[in-house]
Amino acid sequence: DMGGHDTYMHKEISEQADAVDRVLRGRIDDRFSTVHLGGLNLDAREARGIRRVKILGCGTSYHAGLIGAGLIESLARVPADSEPASEFRYRNPVVDPDTLYIAVSQSGETYDVLAAVQELKRKGARVLGVVNVVGSAIARETDGGVYVHAGPEVCVVSTKCFTNTVVAFALLALHLGRIRDLSVADGKRIIEGLRRLPAQISEILESEDEIRKLADEYADARSMMFIGRVRGYPVALEASLKLKEISYIHAEAYPASELKHGPLALIEPALPTVAIVPDDELLEKNRAALEEIKARSGRILAVAHQEQEKADHTILVPKNEDELDPILMGIPLQLFAYHTALSLGRDIDKPRNLAKSVTVE
Ligand code: M6R
Repeated sequence: DMGGHDTYMHKEISEQADAVDRVLRGRIDDRFSTVHLGGLNLDAREARGIRRVKILGCGTSYHAGLIGAGLIESLARVPADSEPASEFRYRNPVVDPDTLYIAVSQSGETYDVLAAVQELKRKGARVLGVVNVVGSAIARETDGGVYVHAGPEVCVVSTKCFTNTVVAFALLALHLGRIRDLSVADGKRIIEGLRRLPAQISEILESEDEIRKLADEYADARSMMFIGRVRGYPVALEASLKLKEISYIHAEAYPASELKHGPLALIEPALPTVAIVPDDELLEKNRAALEEIKARSGRILAVAHQEQEKADHTILVPKNEDELDPILMGIPLQLFAYHTALSLGRDIDKPRNLAKSVTVE
């Protein structure tokens, strides 16, 4: 049942404020500015012994893991990174007893992720899951974890599940932070930021008409560049994947800082750039990148907290805490991919060559 929407993707995009509300519900403890995650199965002493976090997933879940790693590094100050699960399992990785491994999967059935979990467990590692589907294979194989509570996601391309997965990582990062070195004040700041998310998501979804017009304007591009820096880079990766999956427009994502090391050669009027430009400590750096692109006559669509002078168009998003901004900045670009695909007449819920869950190698 699409509940009055033309596609499941549109329905699922529009459900995100409620979905985020659900992943937060019952998990925040305001008295101590901390978080309770019932199924984690990791006591405080074990959690304090973690020296490193390694996140494994595929596709969109890998991208959610990249944002999750950033959240864990900044809130818990534990080195963290995310890697495609398939790459991890084929490179005979060193399995380290002081590393916490986290498998991320919407479906909980992705074979490459499941195989990585099984290999890790064989070698004695502790593996948690960040999973949407309750009781799925990955949820069962892991030692504990955090359910994402996004509700069923039918469309092949992931939207609400991505958002909820990142919010689940923010909760996990906050939990790890508060039993290590994060102050009560910072815990409170992040909790207040998390609580602002649902209303801010609704606000973004209200700009759909404007985003649809922009999508129509850019739909003639044969290829698009997506750039972001640090927290903005995974947002760029995910937005470029969304566009590829449903519109079949070729898209690349690069860290903004890497432009001058090669991809700047591609910039010309026929290759538009979508730039993630949050109001944070990197704003000036990001503006400099926009200037470099403009100097090569590249068209620019910015997703930002304030109007960008160098951009041809700016999609404004509400500001949250710096750490949580990536959660919001990707949402207008889900709508952008959606309307681009719609104006090209694509089969949005069932893009060619793709399956909802990839249970083969
Ligand atoms: O169910 P999973 O999260 O494990 O799926 C992983 C990927 O196959 C999935 O995210 C894929 O990239 C989607 N089509 C993204 O929209």
